[in-house]
Amino acid sequence: MTTIAHLSDVHFGRHDPAVVTALEEWLMERRPELVVISGDFTQRARRAQYRLACAFVERLEASGLAVLGVPGNHDVPLYDVFRRFVRPLNRYRRYIDDELCPWFESERLAVLGINTARSLTIKDGRINHEQMRTIRERFRAVPEAKTRILVTHHPLFAMPIGEEAELTKRVGRHEDALLAVADAGVHILLAGHFHRSYVRSARDMVENAGPALVIQAGTATSTRLRADEVQSFNWIHARRNDAVDLQLFGWEGGGFAAGDHARYGFDGGIWHRASNQPA
Ligand SMILES: [Fe+2]
Ligand SMILES: [Fe+2]
Repeated sequence: MTTIAHLSDVHFGRHDPAVVTALEEWLMERRPELVVISGDFTQRARRAQYRLACAFVERLEASGLAVLGVPGNHDVPLYDVFRRFVRPLNRYRRYIDDELCPWFESERLAVLGINTARSLTIKDGRINHEQMRTIRERFRAVPEAKTRILVTHHPLFAMPIGEEAELTKRVGRHEDALLAVADAGVHILLAGHFHRSYVRSARDMVENAGPALVIQAGTATSTRLRADEVQSFNWIHARRNDAVDLQLFGWEGGGFAAGDHARYGFDGGIWHRASNQPA
């Protein structure tokens, strides 16, 4: 069994410092094997915002926690045209991680991050063919028993948000991306961007998705919230490739409290929701 904290959309520059402090303390005490941050480290890719995000990551790492992150659309400068098109992720690479395809592997886990943020599409994400090759190649040598996780900022296909009928935009080249994910035998897809926590088997939403469980995170620390939303993150226990326990933690003013909980088992080539009992 391994434990992963999945944070997203921390948006330094529009963050709540009290939430950041509480989150850090929580993570340092609970000590997941890996902290995943699925993009939007900053609000506007400004240097001062990157410094704050960098300090947050460095404090986690200094406490001995492993951190894996990918950039989001907010991490590409919006108004600085030179930076946006010529050096879109220069600051991300300087302050957060020079590696845009980060990889984490342990006895129980194999986790790959892919950058879906692009200069030309202000909000929408995209995956290129080289990244699809990377997905196939990185997971090829991973032993069967490890939990394989792919992290992106943008979800790989249209997701229901709000009312069930409303769907988000799909990532560019999503059909090819899903084939790569299925070929690579990815068990869990972690993403953010829509500031909504969410979990469902990929096959319930799209065909040819392979055996992936889709887990979306809300915003962990941003103060830009919808009326019914609080800051939250996902606390994931994964056992090999056949059991996932997902506990949502939401901000309640003075600290994070346990919210929705779901258990999934892998059976017959698909993830099934096993129970709704609290953890
Ligand atoms: Fe965001
Ligand atoms: Fe985003």
